[in-house]
Amino acid sequence: MNYKTNYMSNYHIKHLEEYYQVYRKSIREPENFWEEVAEEHFMWRKKWDNVLSWDFSKPDVKWFEGAKLNITENCIDRHLVTRGEKTAILFEPNNPDEAAEHITYNQLYERVCKFANVLKAEGIKKGDRVCIYVPMIPELAISVLACARIGAIHSVVFAGFSSKALSTRINDSDCKMVITSDGSYRGSKAIDLKGIVDEALENCSGVKSVLVAKRIHSDIEMKAGRDKWLQPLLDEASSDCKAEIMDAEDPLFILYTSGSTGMPKGMVHTTAGYMVYTAYTFKNAFQYKENDVYWCTADIGWITGHSYIVYGPLLNGATTVMFEGVPHYPDFGRFWEIIEKHKVNQFYTAPTAIRALAKQGNELVDKYDLTSLKVLGSVGEPINEEAWHWYNDNIGKKKSPIIDTWWQTETGGIMISPIPFVTPTKPTYATLPFIGIQPCLMDENGNELKGNQVDGRLCIKFPWPSIARTIWGNHQRYKDTYFSAFENKYFTGDGALRDEVGYYRITGRVDDVIIVSGHNLGTAPIEDAINEHPAVAESAIVGFPHDVKGNALYGFVILKDFGETRVHDNLRNEINQIITEHVGPIAKLDKIQFTSGLPKTRSGKIMRRILRKIACKDISNLGDTSTLLNPEVVQEIIDNAL
Ligand code: PRX
Repeated sequence: MNYKTNYMSNYHIKHLEEYYQVYRKSIREPENFWEEVAEEHFMWRKKWDNVLSWDFSKPDVKWFEGAKLNITENCIDRHLVTRGEKTAILFEPNNPDEAAEHITYNQLYERVCKFANVLKAEGIKKGDRVCIYVPMIPELAISVLACARIGAIHSVVFAGFSSKALSTRINDSDCKMVITSDGSYRGSKAIDLKGIVDEALENCSGVKSVLVAKRIHSDIEMKAGRDKWLQPLLDEASSDCKAEIMDAEDPLFILYTSGSTGMPKGMVHTTAGYMVYTAYTFKNAFQYKENDVYWCTADIGWITGHSYIVYGPLLNGATTVMFEGVPHYPDFGRFWEIIEKHKVNQFYTAPTAIRALAKQGNELVDKYDLTSLKVLGSVGEPINEEAWHWYNDNIGKKKSPIIDTWWQTETGGIMISPIPFVTPTKPTYATLPFIGIQPCLMDENGNELKGNQVDGRLCIKFPWPSIARTIWGNHQRYKDTYFSAFENKYFTGDGALRDEVGYYRITGRVDDVIIVSGHNLGTAPIEDAINEHPAVAESAIVGFPHDVKGNALYGFVILKDFGETRVHDNLRNEINQIITEHVGPIAKLDKIQFTSGLPKTRSGKIMRRILRKIACKDISNLGDTSTLLNPEVVQEIIDNAL
């Protein structure tokens, strides 16, 4: 076994010239480049036979084929010799009066091994899918790692999703087990998570067992033969568990993301490439140094949490903060209080949180000592100029660079981002491609836009190690969604522009995905939910700008009996209630307009472009509406717009 202890050797990129040098090497000789990174930093049970094979037309991508490894040996075991007593996970509870928990690498090893042994005792084997529906408590990170330890494929579902959304995801990947908790805290509220799981499992016959962590100590119902409390099983379990040796391309996890249409897509990430890329990007994007305390405020239910709360930081032997609560509890100073308390060095959050906090003014910011901060990150949606400056001036005090990191569930890791202290930043620009990433902009006719000062559809020309390999159970959909719009290129679904020095600015989605408070929402599942209401005939959802959420949702709804105006407000509440049940509260509509019709093409397709413009109050140029099936409805919608 090859324990590398010099992992934190000076591998950071230090200046812009070096960035360009390394970047050039990474795209001229990608295989040599990634092989060097993989050689230097990781613990392999067997090295690869081949660094990369790829064919975007199939699509088929393989990195480090033939290699054998376990990612948890790289996240935990490898650090025990030098960092056993260092804090790996620093858990900050929802309630500020509850003590923070420092979980060292030694303790993490024990807790992951015990959990892994419990999974094995419950019959979970390599390749089985395990659904993890757990709030932001240590058991969430530990269960993720325990699955990886034994080669089970984890499918984490954000614990804010509804029972319907949960059952859809459990069934899609045929999970055998669900891990959950008796409840969760969110600010002053306690949420009955187990009740949501029970409801979901009424429709999931494949789930044989449910493990329940205790968090809110509520008296909940346990179904005999299916549900077990986790703690007694952990108490009995051995604290050593041999890691399952995985092939480089064995699936590590499935994570669902919304699509333009239909079912959520279960993106499949595999082991070695994901490991190499998240470790490398974490280290360079955050310029992480050995004793830094790093905090990403995302939930592990999203890709940001997978890659940059769990895997990336632990692969680097870092201290990663895990926060259970919300930014406004007990007040809007909570983030700043935590930064002061734990002397956070790198802080990574979303523009929607920045905008919500900026609205509160600076009194609560000024109360706390933020001088520990070195790097500020932003992720999930475009950061507007005002929010960027507020973050830069008041949180970073103009000395901590902002890294606006663009990436996706599908990309596994950061794709376009400044490197702090290296790349000069520019508000609203994600700036330069990360090492190894070859972006390009395409016009609508499939031509690559060369040179600078152009805008188009953002694609990637060459594979990178952590690209998702498929959609679980539906490779054709993977091909259709990402590799069919432009030949031989991965299409991101985003629009972007490139400025005169080659910096990229992401302009937003060009498909029917809407990003609300940094959450990806597909219109189809929300419309399906609305259409379940007995009074609704048809509906269409579009996004419109919102000063905190970035985008909010605007629904146009045709009622079966349009004349029934008395009950419109009740109906609005009921529609949002149905959406909450089917998708989750994040998908609630801010505005609901009832209408007698929706603008449609002659083939019956809803012209969302027109609805989008009306929702954005931009009706000066609606384009040619005369070819619509029902042009008269456009004026009615404009007249009644909210
Ligand atoms: O539209 C882009 C936006 O979020 C989408 C990906 O969402 P998701 O898969 O949930 O992953 C979010 C966290 C990585 C992208 O297609 N997006 C993400 N980061 C940025 C962004 N838009 C602009 N700027 C960003 N920094």
